[in-house]
Amino acid sequence: MILVTGASGQLGTGVVEHLLTKIPANEIAVLVRDAQKVATLQAKGVSVRTGDYHDVASLQTAFDGIDKVLLISSNDFNNRIGQHKNVIDAAKEAGVKHIFYTSVTLKDIEQSPLKPLLADHYQTEEYIKASGLTYTFLQNSLYFEVVPMFVGAQVLETGIYFAAGEGKVAFAARQDLAEATANILASTGHENKAYPLTGAAAYSFAEVAQVLSVIAGKTVGYHSPESGEFEGFLRQIGLPDGIVLMSVLFAAGIKNNDFEAVDTTLEHFLGRKPTDLKQFLQGIFA
Ligand SMILES: NC(=O)c1ccc[n+]([C@@H]2O[C@H](COP(=O)([O-])OP(=O)(O)OC[C@H]3O[C@@H](n4cnc5c(N)ncnc54)[C@H](OP(=O)(O)O)[C@@H]3O)[C@@H](O)[C@H]2O)c1
Repeated sequence: MILVTGASGQLGTGVVEHLLTKIPANEIAVLVRDAQKVATLQAKGVSVRTGDYHDVASLQTAFDGIDKVLLISSNDFNNRIGQHKNVIDAAKEAGVKHIFYTSVTLKDIEQSPLKPLLADHYQTEEYIKASGLTYTFLQNSLYFEVVPMFVGAQVLETGIYFAAGEGKVAFAARQDLAEATANILASTGHENKAYPLTGAAAYSFAEVAQVLSVIAGKTVGYHSPESGEFEGFLRQIGLPDGIVLMSVLFAAGIKNNDFEAVDTTLEHFLGRKPTDLKQFLQGIFA
């Protein structure tokens, strides 16, 4: 039986939807904090188990009878490595055989401005390896879905103001990652592998602006301020500290070309070309 954590979230919802098209519902379990969020899955025959990454006992109970666990990385940066360690320890204790982990693909974490935010993915990978569990790392690129977040909902009117310079990102659509992850979970031969899952091309924010200009039928500009000016602007418009820090660090990471590398593994597991920039932006802004 396969258990998916984070199944109330956006990636997890997609993974379970795709898994349901491949294997019987009674071979799928989900771990959620609030069972009400996945009532429709329960109605389909999926085994719904409640548990919290902060609560090892709840995780051990939830993992009873499970062969494979997909650990979807926590979205709570407060001691995220501790949360992940709890899941890994509980999986081992409960006799889980194989753990799949949604990690990140990044040029060089040691040199990255994103080290304070994302080094815990690599620490989690190391902890899984040291646990002796069979593993598969799904090293996800940045989601295309972060683009609207970074450029703002009014971008066609305002243009792009984002400190990413000419840095490029091999964005991947979250639904493509969900589909490929389900394909991997439902098939064999993934023991002790790390899969970099990226889009088929890397794009700069200048290229994002060009595609948005075509969609809008007018010029959508791109201005990349210096990092200090960018941070000052985000504070001036009243964004919370956490959002300011995240935006500044991601912009710096992108400028540093941390997510530039393109890999064909996502295309391989989808059996088709991944969503590209034009398709994604048309779906959101056209
Ligand atoms: N590659 C990228 O560009 C990118 C972008 C954003 C995030 N991420 C990472 O990828 C993960 C999946 O993305 P997503 O879009 O699906 O995120 P999401 O929609 O925010 O979902 C996160 C999931 O984690 C669960 N969760 C959080 N804390 C938990 C805890 N203490 N115990 C049990 N479950 C917990 C949430 O449960 P509740 O429903 O109970 O809150 C939710 O189901 C994120 O969590 C984050 O680590 C990657």
